[in-house]
Amino acid sequence: MSMQSEPGAPVPEGVIPLSVPEIRGNELKYTRECLDSGWVSSAGAFVDRFEQAVAGYLGVKHAVATVSGTAAVHIALLVAGVAPDDEVLVPTLTFVAPVNAVRYVGAWPVFIDAESAHYQMDPAKLARFLEEKCHGVQGALCNKATGRRVRAVLPVHVLGHPCDMDTIIEVARRYELTVIEDAAESLGSEYKGRRAGSLGDIACLSFNGNKIITAGGGGMLVTSSDAWAQRARYLTTQAKDDPLEYIHGEIGYNYRLTNIQAAIGLAQMEKLNEYVQARRARARQYDELLQDVPGIGLPGEAPWAHWNYWLYTILINEKECRVTSRELMRRLERAGIQSRPLWHPVHSLPPYRACEAVGGEVAELLYSRALSLPSSAGLSSRQCSFVASQVRRESG
Ligand SMILES: Cc1ncc(COP(=O)(O)O)c(C=O)c1O
Repeated sequence: MSMQSEPGAPVPEGVIPLSVPEIRGNELKYTRECLDSGWVSSAGAFVDRFEQAVAGYLGVKHAVATVSGTAAVHIALLVAGVAPDDEVLVPTLTFVAPVNAVRYVGAWPVFIDAESAHYQMDPAKLARFLEEKCHGVQGALCNKATGRRVRAVLPVHVLGHPCDMDTIIEVARRYELTVIEDAAESLGSEYKGRRAGSLGDIACLSFNGNKIITAGGGGMLVTSSDAWAQRARYLTTQAKDDPLEYIHGEIGYNYRLTNIQAAIGLAQMEKLNEYVQARRARARQYDELLQDVPGIGLPGEAPWAHWNYWLYTILINEKECRVTSRELMRRLERAGIQSRPLWHPVHSLPPYRACEAVGGEVAELLYSRALSLPSSAGLSSRQCSFVASQVRRESG
């Protein structure tokens, strides 16, 4: 298998992966219970237990498990009432999945630049767009340029580090926008003592293999709204009004997580705190070992944040360290270390070039300079030291 394999996938023996799951809890025991009971598909006790465990952890009333994080965002947009030709404010520096989900419902993304301190959606640029580029038309907030209704804001806690949510929520409330929180990367992180995934009107999680915990694949939608949770369950199970007569009141989706995946997810959930602690310990070690390397910027934790360090990401100032982020990635690869740049800013990807972007220069700069280092919960102290020593050596 090449080193360019998907993050979360196994890597060749001896290679230090970017972010892979730890499987060392009750995964096998619970999966065997599923198989023994015959409840293997999209209903069963483990789906309920997994949903309850996540809802309880986040302190949110409802959780609805889905086949993927992308499906969770898709359904969140639908239950929040985002309609075709509405606009949704999204960060441009993100994995593309939540933006694609905006298009699944026929709505349009408006891209907000990242701020340079923590790489999150910039609340000042968000507020400026709403203030200067939008106006009220018959009680609805509309984009002056496109005439479309602006309906929701979809902040993503990029790299697992929480956005400045109080500021984003305050701006959203001022304009009566729904807040759909994408916490796919940030389970286990906190914002001012409140857990990521419990901050928006509705939030989405992912249990993909490269995330903080995994169910093999899967996602979850969490909300304290009874009506939204009920509707999410309905839409994710084919919008079934009468299962015996096959009456479907709307176009639904086959989006429910299987019991087998939920069994794995529940076992992983039991280890969440341990895995977050492990990632934080390695981040502290990287901080210490890399603090004095010229031209290497280290990721800072905001005063409001308790960060899960999903991906520990450095910034390479090529003038000072005479290597680009891509060259450093290749050199690390030769040393058996997997690393990755940040995502290409979504506003300049082919499907989205015609969409509106508010700034984007910060995201472009971060895209060219950043490199995420191995960050798995199972990364040993020795491996962490080796990675840091190679970064120091190769960037000098
Ligand atoms: C921010 C963000 N949102 C949504 C997703 C989609 O999750 P999934 O891969 O489970 O569909 C991901 C990652 O995969 C993500 O990083």
